[in-house]
Amino acid sequence: MKILVTGGLGFIGSHTVVELQNEGFEVIIIDDLSNANENVLDGIEHITGKRPLFEKIDLRDKHKVQDFFRIYADVEGVIHFAASKAVGESVNKPLLYYENNIVTLVYLLQELSKKEKSNFIFSSSCTVYGQADRMPITEEAPVKGALSPYGNTKQIGEEVIRDTCQIQASMNAISLRYFNPVGAHPSAAIGELPLGVPQNLVPFIVQTAMGQRDELSVFGDDYDTPDGTCVRDYIHVVDLAKAHVVALQRLLQKKNKENYEVFNIGTGTGSSVLEVIHSFEQVSGQKLNYKIVDRRPGDVTIAYADTTKANEVLGWKARSTLDEAIKSAWDWQCTIKN
Ligand code: UD1
Repeated sequence: MKILVTGGLGFIGSHTVVELQNEGFEVIIIDDLSNANENVLDGIEHITGKRPLFEKIDLRDKHKVQDFFRIYADVEGVIHFAASKAVGESVNKPLLYYENNIVTLVYLLQELSKKEKSNFIFSSSCTVYGQADRMPITEEAPVKGALSPYGNTKQIGEEVIRDTCQIQASMNAISLRYFNPVGAHPSAAIGELPLGVPQNLVPFIVQTAMGQRDELSVFGDDYDTPDGTCVRDYIHVVDLAKAHVVALQRLLQKKNKENYEVFNIGTGTGSSVLEVIHSFEQVSGQKLNYKIVDRRPGDVTIAYADTTKANEVLGWKARSTLDEAIKSAWDWQCTIKN
């Protein structure tokens, strides 16, 4: 069964390709290489023994998207990761984000709408909840006004899919709202490759420990949380990748109750920034150089998932602990250093 994975050479995309191939799916990757490297294909082949097909396509090129679906008319499912994801950059380049994240989504859905039946998994984010009023966050929590163009593209993206599904019975879609993906494949053959200075916590920690950064700035210790630092739900990227396979199988096996569904994908456990640092220190056996600085504008205080719906309806559960996730991120960093 052929599955298209857009953005399949990226961080979450590449781990999902591995899990799809492990389940016997034939994968075709579309990636424009704007934030990924072609040699990720080697890593995927190393782990699975199989090299996925790869098409270098910029999804903003509508004709190329049309050509793709003409050539690969037998694609039975699409997992759509391709998108820009830097929150800060999105504030400075909003139109780039709306073009990369929304226009491309529309082009894909236009092509899928021509098919007799289509199955679509969308990369959404817990960012749609903003600062939720209650923890843990269920899928029923209201979607709050986005704090950045990036966050807005996830909200609008979900609406575009929902509205399309409403009038298009042949379209089946699931949005997965990820909490904070971290870690790398246990083989250390693929992992996260942030461009430039990492904005996310775990890549910054491992680069600091490796000596590539002087010290980690912890953004605020005066929040209303047990140790004063922000709390997030850090999920191992392999667990997250597996959630995509399970969601896709739900659609392929026609087990979905409605033709558009939404699931939180997290561990259900909140960890503070200091807890993540301590986890790193424990699994790596080294002290991390860090200092407390002012709060980062736009950060929510606390966000962790209620995963009951994913556990019960999808039959999926995150397995890895925070320590396992952080250790895999560190192993990966040591591998790419060498
Ligand atoms: C952000 C995005 C989210 C996106 C995710 C992964 C928002 C509101 N959320 O999540 O949509 O899916 O990135 O790309 O923009 N921290 C430090 N020092 C650092 C870096 C981070 O203390 O150098 C702290 C932050 O204040 C936060 C936690 O670590 O409390 C996690 O930060 P980060 O990894 O950037 O993820 P989020 O901001 O939660």
